[in-house]
Amino acid sequence: MSSTNKSAAPNGASLPIRLVPDPVLRKTARAVTPDDAAEIATLIPAMFATMYAAPGIGLAAPQIGRLLRLVVMDIAPDQTPAPKVLINPEILESSTETATREEGCLSLPEQYADVTRPAWVRVKYQDEHGARHEIAGDGLLAACLQHEIDHLNGVLFVDYLSALKRNILLRKLAKDIRDRAGKK
Ligand code: NI
Repeated sequence: MSSTNKSAAPNGASLPIRLVPDPVLRKTARAVTPDDAAEIATLIPAMFATMYAAPGIGLAAPQIGRLLRLVVMDIAPDQTPAPKVLINPEILESSTETATREEGCLSLPEQYADVTRPAWVRVKYQDEHGARHEIAGDGLLAACLQHEIDHLNGVLFVDYLSALKRNILLRKLAKDIRDRAGKK
């Protein structure tokens, strides 16, 4: 997810972020296996650098063109940094109660819309050392977890909007990208 905070970017080289309509964003990512250890050890710091520099609060591997079930998140980068790596995350439980929040996405820069999702989720995942964890929460944490896990399944936040709202947003995105390219 994108962030409206303009925090200072920590050190580290950023990777190019894939933008809609890049087809890689619509593919299903595969599970991370022990054979991927060397690659993800390099990818994780690069993904954090990319996410903080954007600035964003979550980034999924498909957004940098790697179809792996790997997410990095830090929902409060301006307060105490709490970087979190989620490998092979899976939603175990979600509330029937829903919540609506404004969402944005680094793959749809500067486009925001209200998205309604389950208000609370419980997620299992592995960390970068292979240890298993569970995390549960509501609010921004729940929205971010669902948004990032969606990326691993080729789903974008605009998929939750009406066709009319989605088309307006996608047309505006295409125009913004054209305008930016024209200014270069
Ligand atoms: Ni996103």
